Amino acid sequence: MNAASLLKEARRLRARDVLRDPVPENPVEFARVVGLEPDPWQRNVLASDHPRKILCCGRQTGKSSVAAILALHKALTKPGAVVLVVAPGERQAKLAFSKALSLHRGAGYPLPAHSERRTGLELSNGSVIEALPAAERTTRGYSADLLVVDEAAAVGDLDYFALLPSLVATRGEQVLLSTPRGQRGFFHEVFHSEDDWMRVMVRSDEVDRIRPEDLQVFRHAMPEEFYRQEFLCDWLETEGGLFAYNDIEAALEAGANVGALQLEDEGW
Ligand SMILES: Nc1ncnc2c1ncn2[C@@H]1O[C@H](COP(=O)(O)OP(=O)(O)OP(=O)(O)O)[C@@H](O)[C@H]1O
Ligand SMILES: [Mg+2]
Repeated sequence: MNAASLLKEARRLRARDVLRDPVPENPVEFARVVGLEPDPWQRNVLASDHPRKILCCGRQTGKSSVAAILALHKALTKPGAVVLVVAPGERQAKLAFSKALSLHRGAGYPLPAHSERRTGLELSNGSVIEALPAAERTTRGYSADLLVVDEAAAVGDLDYFALLPSLVATRGEQVLLSTPRGQRGFFHEVFHSEDDWMRVMVRSDEVDRIRPEDLQVFRHAMPEEFYRQEFLCDWLETEGGLFAYNDIEAALEAGANVGALQLEDEGW
């Protein structure tokens, strides 16, 4: 067993012991119990009880992880809660959901899951976490206590607006998280509005886990504007910029292998 697997096993066992106790009310403590020592900015997000949070973050900063903690914590601490985890496409929704699922597993199943599906988790306290692609026809009809929108800047405005009625009756909370994608769309607008939201911006070079020399490799491997968007949270001009915005989107679709930045992933 190498050092990383030993550490993982130790965390798992520790989590199991601790979770014989009730799930901590405080999400920061909960993160630690499930084996994640939150970075300072993640701590601020977890500690805030603001019902609307918008996280504009560079690649690999840990935004999906912090959202997964919030999603799972809500499901575990509020019996009967409905948590929707939405992302632009089905694959991304599953990916976002799989983080919550692996946390739940890692936590030693503090509440036995009724059923565990590839896109949903039903807990014996009646709570569910449901992963959905942000298409209006799929998301209609839900009532949600917490709505998490991952990669929100790539979700269409109409698909986002169609989700909002699900929060009305429950007075549900929202967490929108994304890397910026140009000066357009609801994610850009909410972030720059005067409305009452908790706003957080975190660049990849502000996160200690991400080494400057690795960022340099990416900087040289892609157009500067694209690098600045992905890692430094620049809101690129969608009209008249140096690169046609659609070219940048195409490069995004082609997928720069940013996952390679998972240098210190301890597989929690
Ligand atoms: N506080 C932390 N401590 C240690 N590792 C962390 C922490 N937060 C996140 N990670 C790890 O960093 C990597 C990136 O995390 P995550 O996928 O949450 O980031 P992201 O910002 O959503 O990335 P992307 O831009 O690719 O969507 C993952 O391997 C995750 O396990
Ligand atoms: Mg992510």
